[in-house]
Amino acid sequence: MFTLAHVSDLHVSGFGDTLHDRARIVRRSARIADASETRFATCWEEASWRVLRDRHKKKDVILVDPEGYSHSIPSVRESGGLLDPVERAAAKACRLEARRARTLAAATPREGALASMLETTPHNANLRCLRAARVVAEHAVDAVVMTGDCTDDGDGWELIEGAFRSWHERGRLLVIPGNHDLYRFPIASSARPRPTEAGKLARWHAFAAGAGLELEPCGAWKRVFEEHGVAIAGLNSCARRQRAFFRQNGAIGPAQLVWLRALAETRPWRDARHRIVLFHHHVVPLPHGVGKRAPTEIGMRLDDAREFAETLAAVGATLVMHGHRHISERRSPAGHDFELLAAPSLTLGCKSGDAPSFWKVELDARVHVARVRIPVEAVEQENDPGTEPPPG
Ligand SMILES: [Fe+2]
Ligand SMILES: [Fe+2]
Repeated sequence: MFTLAHVSDLHVSGFGDTLHDRARIVRRSARIADASETRFATCWEEASWRVLRDRHKKKDVILVDPEGYSHSIPSVRESGGLLDPVERAAAKACRLEARRARTLAAATPREGALASMLETTPHNANLRCLRAARVVAEHAVDAVVMTGDCTDDGDGWELIEGAFRSWHERGRLLVIPGNHDLYRFPIASSARPRPTEAGKLARWHAFAAGAGLELEPCGAWKRVFEEHGVAIAGLNSCARRQRAFFRQNGAIGPAQLVWLRALAETRPWRDARHRIVLFHHHVVPLPHGVGKRAPTEIGMRLDDAREFAETLAAVGATLVMHGHRHISERRSPAGHDFELLAAPSLTLGCKSGDAPSFWKVELDARVHVARVRIPVEAVEQENDPGTEPPPG
């Protein structure tokens, strides 16, 4: 028996905010120029956060994060009645610092501390990622499969590594990237400076190397667990350069399709009972739940889905896994013999309204699949009116 957890779309970020929840985006301004700092005196400092006070206008206070970007100071009302702006700034710094991907990755909080932070900020994707990873750990799976949008905007890979360390250090964290990891977004995130495609790609490559995933020139990787009869191919459905920053369409592309067909000629693939293919974009349109229509595909689809489905059939894929639409669904697509698992967001939940979940997959002579839900705080889902969430 070989067991997998199929998780997806964690959307972790620098501070745990996400483009999917724009009302709670942590906003920071451009870097403070060194020259202007002579105007200011440091009046509070901790964990590389600083509160600066203007030497001439004593009321003017600035909060500067460890990377040198400034944050707004919460109002008296927002900070529960704190009158001193320095105290208000320091309280905000402590709250953000405790949720930073880097901080959480370096020293993961104990259960009680995590629970209390989640009580204050129940939507925080970084905190939800840590809690979900603990639920996955309770199931003692042999490997964790992660099908993209691991990060919200290419930042926070260290938390993916930290939260899933026990699999990462054994080369059992099997990850492929998604559009949020590699493509640019038209919406302002908290990341400064705005991430570039080259920068995002470099971070993904660094993560893949650290996780022991050997990327082929086409962007794919393979892993064989011969004793369990399992062969896994990981594909990058964002290997093609983004055509325009508002387009999040993916494609497997001819190079990876050729590579997959060549892999299928090899003995380990042919001998494997379970031939698994991972990618991020969906190959079949998915409705948001029972009784609902499949949503629009504009800017979201896999452009070569048809060729890809033909290739999946040709290479004898038995099980394909993806994320992207934040929908939890298991199906056997019409006209094809492979089984499909779509995983929802492990932190943001399922578009049907269901709680975050992952698929627990047990592989022996057959495939056994169970949906495992992650408990979330009972909070009202506050939607940001008038704004469309960014694509998957
Ligand atoms: Fe996506
Ligand atoms: Fe996503």
